[in-house]
Amino acid sequence: MMKTLITTCLALAAVACSQKPNEYKGELLWLQYTQPKNKVCVVVQDTIPTLQIARNELFANFSKADTVRLQIVADAALPNDGFRIAVGGKTIDIEAQSTVGLLYGAYHLIRCEAAGAQVRPTTEVPSYALRILNHWDNIDGTIERGYAGKSLWQWDELPAVVSPRYAEYARANASIGINATVLNNVNASPQILSDEYIRKTAALADVFRPYGIRVYLSVNFSSPMALDSLPTADPLDKAVRQWWKDKADEIYKAIPDFGGFLVKANSEGLPGPLDFGRSHADGANMLAEALAPHGGIVMWRAFVYSPSDADRAKQAYLEFEPLDGQFADNVIIQTKNGPIDFQPREPFSPLFGHLAKTRQMAELQITQEYTGHSNHLCFLPSMWLEVLNTDTYEHGEGSLIRDKIEAIAGVSNVGDSANWCAHPFAQANWYAFGRIAWNNRLTTDSLATEWIRQTLGKLPNDVERKIADMMDTSHETVVDYMMPLGLHHIFAWGHHYGPEPWCAIPGARPDWMPSYYHCADSLGLGFDRSYSGSRACEQYNAPLDSLYGNIQTCPDKYLLWFHHVPWNYTMHSGRTMWDELCLSYGRGLAAAEQYVQTWNECRPYVDPLLWNSVARRLDIQAHDARWWHDACLLYFQQFSKMPIQQKTLLNLDDMMKFHLRISNYECPADGGMRAEN
Ligand code: GCU
Repeated sequence: MMKTLITTCLALAAVACSQKPNEYKGELLWLQYTQPKNKVCVVVQDTIPTLQIARNELFANFSKADTVRLQIVADAALPNDGFRIAVGGKTIDIEAQSTVGLLYGAYHLIRCEAAGAQVRPTTEVPSYALRILNHWDNIDGTIERGYAGKSLWQWDELPAVVSPRYAEYARANASIGINATVLNNVNASPQILSDEYIRKTAALADVFRPYGIRVYLSVNFSSPMALDSLPTADPLDKAVRQWWKDKADEIYKAIPDFGGFLVKANSEGLPGPLDFGRSHADGANMLAEALAPHGGIVMWRAFVYSPSDADRAKQAYLEFEPLDGQFADNVIIQTKNGPIDFQPREPFSPLFGHLAKTRQMAELQITQEYTGHSNHLCFLPSMWLEVLNTDTYEHGEGSLIRDKIEAIAGVSNVGDSANWCAHPFAQANWYAFGRIAWNNRLTTDSLATEWIRQTLGKLPNDVERKIADMMDTSHETVVDYMMPLGLHHIFAWGHHYGPEPWCAIPGARPDWMPSYYHCADSLGLGFDRSYSGSRACEQYNAPLDSLYGNIQTCPDKYLLWFHHVPWNYTMHSGRTMWDELCLSYGRGLAAAEQYVQTWNECRPYVDPLLWNSVARRLDIQAHDARWWHDACLLYFQQFSKMPIQQKTLLNLDDMMKFHLRISNYECPADGGMRAEN
C-alpha cells in the first residue's frame, strides 16, 4: 500500500515538474491570453473607436489566420449586433450590421483560440437584445449584497478622474456580449439624478460607449420631492410629469445613448405610485412617457411585497397580473427568477406564465447573496438554465421562459477587489451570465469548460474534467446543504450567509423571520402553499398547479416549498422525509469536503496563488456545509424527534473552534447591507 502511494506521489511530482502551470492574473479574468506567435493582418474599413478596439484585440490575441477582414454589411439576418464568420483558406471575414457586432465577432474568434476550439463558419445572433448588469452600488461606495470590495465607481473623483478600470470593465463585458449596465442600487438615492451625478454618469458612459455598453440608472420614485421639493411624486400630477420630462431631457443632453431607468417601487419600504393611490402601471407609464421621445425604456421591478396576510410568494402575481396590458410599450417588467428572493433554488415566478400583453425580462442574481457570498464555489448557470428552460404551459406545452422573456438582467458580483469578484470561481458566474444572455442554448458544462480553458489555460484532460465536474455539481451541492427539498429562507437575518432557522426577533416583520417559511412544528416541516394552504400553487398554469399542489406529485426539490410535510412522510425514494432531509444535508457536506480533496489533486497544475486563494475558500465552504448540516438538523430535530442519519455531528470542541473562526469572519464589504431582511 505504502509503495503504491509513494509511486503515485512520485508520478504526480514528475508531472508537476514537467508542466509549469500557467500564470494566472486575477485582474485579467477570462482574458488571460498569452501573446500568439503569428500576428494577424486585420483589415478594417474605418478608424472609429469600436473598430480600433476590435483591430487591436485581434492583432494582440488572435493568430489562427493570416488576415481577418471586418466588414459592415446591410443584412437583416444579423439583428441586434449579431455577426457572421466566414472562413476561406487563411482569411477570415467577420460581417455585421454594426461596429459592435464586428467587435463581438472579434471576441468570438479570440475565444475560440483561447478555448482551443476550431474557428468555423458561423452566424451568431444574440438570444436577447438587452443583456444588462444591475449594480447594487450605492453612491457612498458601498455595495448592497456585494462581496468583492467596494464599488468600482469612484464617484468622488468623477468626472475629472477616470479610472483605467472602467475601460477594463467595459472590455470584459463586451468580450462576453453584455451591452448594458445599471450603475446604481435599486434602493436608489435620489442624488443619482442630480446635475452633478448626471455629469459623472456621462463620463462613465463615454468610456463604455466604444465597447457597445449603454448606461442606465436606478431611480427613486420620489426624486422630484427629494431633489426639487415638489410637494408630491404622484404620477398623475402635471408638475411631477413635467419634472420627469425635464430630467430625461437633461440626461439625454449629457448622454445621447442613455438606456433608461430601473425602478424598485413600493417594495421593502421604498416610495412608489401606490403611496399616491396610483398603480404600478401609472408610475411606470409616467417615466416611460418622459423617456419615449429619446428611445429610452423603463425596467419596472416586480419584486414587490409587503407585510400582509397574503403569502409573500403570491404577492407579485397578485399586484401585477391585473395590470396586464396596461403598461406602455417601452416598459419592461423585470421579474426575479423565483417568487420570493434569489434563494438557491426556487420554483419559477408564476408571472412568467402570465402577463401575455406585457413585456417581461428576467432578473438573475450573479452576486451570491444566498449562495455563500464570495466564499463558496457555486457555479450558477445550472440554476439559471433550469429556470430559463422551464415550461410554464402559458400557451400549452412548450412555453419556455427563455422564449417568453425579452431581456436578461444579472445583479452584478463585481467590486473593486483586485480580481473583481473575490472568489476566482465567482468570475465564472459573471462570464456565464454574459454568455447565456447572448446564447440561451449553452450548457453548464460547456460554459465551465470554456471558462476554465481561458482562465486556467490548457490543463491535462482529467484535471480539466475534475474542475469542470466541481463547477457543474456545485450549485446542487449548495442547494443540498442550504435548502434541501425546497426548505427556504432559513438564512441568518441581515447578512444571509449562514443558517438561522431559530431566529425570532421580537416585533420583527413575520415575513422576515425564518419560521414564516419553514413552519416547523411537531407535525412536520415546510410552507403549505397547496389547496389546503395559501393556494400559491394556483398561480401556475395547468398542469403545474396540480403537480405542485398535490403532495404526491410535487417534485422532491420543491416539496417543502409547497407543502407542510409530516416528518415520517414516505418520499418517492421510500425513505421518510426526515431521513431524506438528513441525506441531503449529508450529501451536500460530503460533496463540499470532496471539493477540498479534488482541488488538492489539481494543485500541481494550477498557479500557486490562485490555488491558495481557492483552497482557502473551499476549506471555508466545507466548514460552512458542516455548519448548515449540524445547525439545521439539530434545530429541526427538536420537532421531528427522530435520529439524525448519515453524518456524525461535530464534537463540542471542534464546534467551538469553528464558531470562533466564523465569528471572526469579516463579512466582506457589505456596507450597504440594510438592517432588514
Ligand atoms: C433582497 C435583498 C435586498 C435587495 C432586494 C431587492 O431582499 O436582500 O438587499 O434590496 O432583494 O432585490 O430589491
